Amino acid sequence: MASLLISGGRPLCGEIKIQGSKNAVLPLMAAALLLPGTTRLSGCPRISDVAAMAELLEQVGARVSWEEDTLCIDAATVHPIPLKQEDTRKTRASILLLGALLGRTQCCEMAYPGGCAIGSRPIDLHLKALRGMGYTVWEREELFCEGKGIAGADIYFTFPSVGATQNALLTAATIQGETRLHGVAREPEVQVLCRFLQKAGVRIDGIGTKNLKIKGSEVLMPVNEVVPSDRIVAGTYLVAVLAAGGNALLHCDCVRELAALVKPLRAAGAKIFELPEGIRVGAGERLTALDYLVTEPYPGFPTDMQSQVMALAAVCEGTTILEERVFEARLATAAQLKRMGAKIYLEENRAIIQGVSRLRGAAVEAGDLRGAAALVIGGLSAEGETLLAGYSYILRGYEDIVRDFTALGAELRLTESR
Ligand code: EPZ
Repeated sequence: MASLLISGGRPLCGEIKIQGSKNAVLPLMAAALLLPGTTRLSGCPRISDVAAMAELLEQVGARVSWEEDTLCIDAATVHPIPLKQEDTRKTRASILLLGALLGRTQCCEMAYPGGCAIGSRPIDLHLKALRGMGYTVWEREELFCEGKGIAGADIYFTFPSVGATQNALLTAATIQGETRLHGVAREPEVQVLCRFLQKAGVRIDGIGTKNLKIKGSEVLMPVNEVVPSDRIVAGTYLVAVLAAGGNALLHCDCVRELAALVKPLRAAGAKIFELPEGIRVGAGERLTALDYLVTEPYPGFPTDMQSQVMALAAVCEGTTILEERVFEARLATAAQLKRMGAKIYLEENRAIIQGVSRLRGAAVEAGDLRGAAALVIGGLSAEGETLLAGYSYILRGYEDIVRDFTALGAELRLTESR
């Protein structure tokens, strides 16, 4: 298993380009199955979740290839076959094949999806939406779904689930007539999928609101799309500069989507400037604490930034409270940061973080993607060396964190651990 060896204490200075968005491109890959012909996704990140999704697309008959940074998906012919656990468990996004295969072939048989160990991650909202749209769903060892979507369905979401919203969109895309979704997720990645489907020939009203009206079509066209910057990767690097010190320019097009993160950081003293080419961030003096932050569905403070902000709060002046309201088990990084000298107390779904002046390097282990990123941030800001086991989690969402942080002057390298 590869580990990451980080020599901390060096400020991060320079400029880097932020990769394409993992959580935007995975739904677009599923949506490509709806489109007979070749869809091209440029600026696609080379991450293991994309590779896992590409494997699944090929299993159902699509042909996937790379042309430089463009992922080409030829879905001229799609034939559903049972998708096995060893493949579907590699990424949470495999669940989106449900909606895409039902939309294209009206049937799907697949094992349950995977995803980071940050909670139980049920799919009840996905299945409730599909049943509400007229599909029959059997939940056994695996999932069996079939049927023809009915027009005129009203689907009510009791929680704005990102994935369930995306699955409902993928299924409604080929239903003739109107489908109305109420209480949907408004994440940028949902809006990107809506605009992609509009380009393919689907009529969608209400994009960015809690209610969507979709008029599907049987004749959809392939789409050429540019994958937007990854707002969570941008947020991760921005927080890393604040924790380690320095000044950097992050080339990206996701400044607006980071408002709920930037606001509390500015209040704590961070120098953050929104520029046409992206975000400039300067650490300035030691930040004061971030007071009380609660993770919420978009446009609230993003749960995918909670662990990284915990690593920053660990070295701010004062006490920060982070409350995790989206996933029920996403505070595990606290234990690893405490091995680095962080003062963190857990109370139900809250982490109370008393800032210390410096963390110290230690041997730590990641348990999920964003927790791993948080430990890299801890290692970059710490005194001494940090050995991070579980580097493979990073590869799920970060194209090349060693390349990016090295470009900003950090000293980190891969090493084989026993
Ligand atoms: C997407 O996961 C993202 N993953 C997650 O990012 C992100 O944290 C999450 O949205 C919230 O923003 C991808 O896009 C691939 P949800 P998803 O359905 O769709 C509960 C990362 O680090 N729920 O909005 O799985 C669920 O248990 C990953 O990049 C149900 O109860 O998130 C959770 O508590 C991590 N029943 C909450 O809703 C359901 O049927 C939010 O889940 C579905 C979800």
